[in-house]
Amino acid sequence: MNRLIDTLRGEHANHENLLRVLERQLDAEDGPDFDIVEAIVEYFLTYPVVRHHPLENLIFDRLRMRDPSAIAKIGDLEHEHADEQAWMRAFAGALTSAKGSGVVRRDVFTETAAAFIQLQRAHIAKEEDWFFPAALAALTERDWRDIKRQAPGDETGDPFFGGDVVGRLALLRRQILRWDEEDRGHLTLQ
Ligand SMILES: [Fe+2]
Ligand SMILES: [Fe+2]
Repeated sequence: MNRLIDTLRGEHANHENLLRVLERQLDAEDGPDFDIVEAIVEYFLTYPVVRHHPLENLIFDRLRMRDPSAIAKIGDLEHEHADEQAWMRAFAGALTSAKGSGVVRRDVFTETAAAFIQLQRAHIAKEEDWFFPAALAALTERDWRDIKRQAPGDETGDPFFGGDVVGRLALLRRQILRWDEEDRGHLTLQ
């Protein structure tokens, strides 16, 4: 049992929930609900950027020292994180201008969002199947202690927002899931 990896796995489960919500928006008969889509983009532009990816990058750096052959199999995760952020920012910009003009090219929106869902799922699967097991096998207790100390933010606050970003983002995630339930006409969350 490793609390850092457990946290990352729990966050992947959250990410997958949001990807499923986004996927349902693509299939919605009367078009996507852009409030939900924007909230999902906001989520992916905040928490993963300030905590999830930096923590994975720290673990990845340590794995590079301990087991370079594992890194060769996994590929460049740090690059994938940077790509994901750039993609999200571009998508957020496209959403804003689409809303401003009142015109949303549904095919473009669908293609872009579907590509993101696919990439995210492949990235998460790679981390779950290769990266986390390799790190758990190769890193020492001392490595994990160092990583915990260097990880950005902790229970006392986030370096980016200087506040309880986990709480705020948990609320945002909850709100997205609630809207999704409402959209589907069977609200179960409170
Ligand atoms: Fe990642
Ligand atoms: Fe991840």
